[in-house]
Amino acid sequence: MKSSFTVTFSSALLLAFCASSSALAPAKNVTATAPSPLTCGDPSDAVPLYFMEIAGQDMYYATGIGFVTTLVGDLAYTFLGIAARVFTTQELSTVPFFHLQNDQTSDNFYTISATDRELALETGWGDAGIAAYIYPSQICGSVPLYGLYQSVDTIHFYTINETTYDAMLAGTGGWADQGIAGYVLDLNPCAAE
Ligand SMILES: *[C@@H]1O[C@H](CO)[C@@H](O)[C@H](O)[C@H]1NC(C)=O
Ligand SMILES: *[C@@H]1O[C@H](CO)[C@@H](O)[C@H](O)[C@H]1NC(C)=O
Repeated sequence: MKSSFTVTFSSALLLAFCASSSALAPAKNVTATAPSPLTCGDPSDAVPLYFMEIAGQDMYYATGIGFVTTLVGDLAYTFLGIAARVFTTQELSTVPFFHLQNDQTSDNFYTISATDRELALETGWGDAGIAAYIYPSQICGSVPLYGLYQSVDTIHFYTINETTYDAMLAGTGGWADQGIAGYVLDLNPCAAE
C-alpha cells in the first residue's frame, strides 16, 4: 500500500510551517463564507494531525511533534505527513476524536462515537485518550475524514483525500469502507478560506 501515500516530508514541513505561522494565517474577514466565530472553532488554532505507519502493520494518527519523535525515532514508524488539521482542545462545535489502541493486533482506531468507543473498550481495546477535537458534521469549512479498514493486517486508515479513498476501496488491498469518521480542516492553511 505504500504507493498510495504521496505526501512528501518536505511538503508536510511546509504545511506545518503554514499551520503554525500566524503571519500567514488567513484573515478572518476575507469572504462572506468565513466561519461564524459564535459557532466554530478558531481555524488559526488548528494544528496538523500527523500520520505515520509501520507498513502492512499499523497506522498511527497524532497531533504534536513529540508523538512523531517517539514513533518515528524510537519505534520504527515511517512519517507520512499531515492527514488533516484538527484542534487539541475542545473548541466551539467540536467533539472528542477518541483514540483506542489494540496492543494484541497492533491497531489504532479513532472515533467520535461514544458507543463505538465503549464497544471497543469492552472487547479488548485500550483507552488511548482523545487524539484531537473535530466536527461531528460538515460545518465551519470542514471536510470529511474517511475511514477504511483492512482486516487481514488489522489496519485502520483515515484520509481526507477522496482520490486516495476511492482508489483504496477499488484496489486489491482489501480495504473496506468505514464511512466518515468526522469532519476536519483541510491541508491548505496558507490559502484564504
Ligand atoms: C470586514 O470586511 C468588510 C467588507 O470588506 C469591511 O467593510 C470591514 O471593515 C471588515 N471588518 C474588519 C474587522 O476587518
Ligand atoms: C490525493 O491523492 C492523489 C493520489 O495519491 C494525489 O495525486 C493528489 O494530489 C491528492 N490530492 C490532494 C489534494 O492532496
